[in-house]
Amino acid sequence: MPTGKTVAIAGATGAVGREFLRVMEELQFPVKELKLLASKRSAGTILEFHNTPLKVEEMTPQSFRGVELALFSAGSSVSKEYEKHVTGAGAIMIDNSSAFRLRENTPLVIPEINPEDVKHHQGVIANPNCSTIIMLMGVYPLHRKYPVRHIVVSTYQAASGAGWAAMEELKESTRAALEGRDFTPQKMPYPYGFNLFSHNSKIDESGYNEEEKKMIQETRKILHNNHIGISPTCIRVPVLRAHAEAIHMEFQEKAPSEEEARELYKSFPGVKVIDDRQNNYFPMPIEASGKFEILVGRIRQDSFLPQKALNIFVVGDQLLKGAALNAVQIARLLDEL
Ligand code: A2P
Repeated sequence: MPTGKTVAIAGATGAVGREFLRVMEELQFPVKELKLLASKRSAGTILEFHNTPLKVEEMTPQSFRGVELALFSAGSSVSKEYEKHVTGAGAIMIDNSSAFRLRENTPLVIPEINPEDVKHHQGVIANPNCSTIIMLMGVYPLHRKYPVRHIVVSTYQAASGAGWAAMEELKESTRAALEGRDFTPQKMPYPYGFNLFSHNSKIDESGYNEEEKKMIQETRKILHNNHIGISPTCIRVPVLRAHAEAIHMEFQEKAPSEEEARELYKSFPGVKVIDDRQNNYFPMPIEASGKFEILVGRIRQDSFLPQKALNIFVVGDQLLKGAALNAVQIARLLDEL
């Protein structure tokens, strides 16, 4: 392994945890020593990093001695429980859960959008919600030149957002449906194969579920704009990984033309335009899976408000830019500042 930091991955056996390893390999993230941590259940599991087998250890409060950087994706209660052990050991925690995202003094960062916020961290930096990251990678390239007033967004969210067990459940429930077998969902509230349902997070009397509220609150924090309107509808669809989102943007003054929007996307890092009307070829989860870029297409003036509004369709790998990649990019930012 090249020289670099002593890094711990908390939740290394999970859907995002495994991607941390892949992303660090691909970005040649310098690692001096790597500790893979998970629950007692998977202690002893072997995972590979740069072709070196590494044994997963049970995470305990002592696990962070000597660690400089801790990448967390083990759920928000685990993050809350371990925060003091991580920062107390002198490590910087980059947390993929929702535990600290809205906390004052905890930066919430998408490196292409608000990199400078990382400077104000006090030991913990939060990685935004995956749907928020994917939406803002579609909105921000236009918003920085043509400020947006109101976003209406509908999500088509993959199983990966609910973790490894949900991905397995999608496969198993699809097999059961094809074979005419009964299937009792464990991880999801309803049968997943050949079905879709409102996002499986808690919904309150406001009518919005937690995922939708995250998209509203996190967007305002990342853009430092408490007035921007966000009207989300979050839906789980039977796709393994990569979330899709249909986005309507109404601008404060005027909308960019389709041509200018296309140019603004092409010059923005981490975004790829797929917008081929002739062949009816646009972003798809199957093509976004495993890719670092967010795919943007269906770029068109709104049919009702052509001067004021524009519509797009974005697709991004929830486990990569929506989680592990964004977190490793934050870690790289720390070295650049
Ligand atoms: P384990 O595999 O031992 O259960 P996912 O998001 O795909 O469900 O993965 C969650 C990750 O968080 C897994 O690596 C899981 O480990 C880990 N995890 C869950 N609970 C704990 C805990 N109490 N302590 C440490 N790791 C945990």
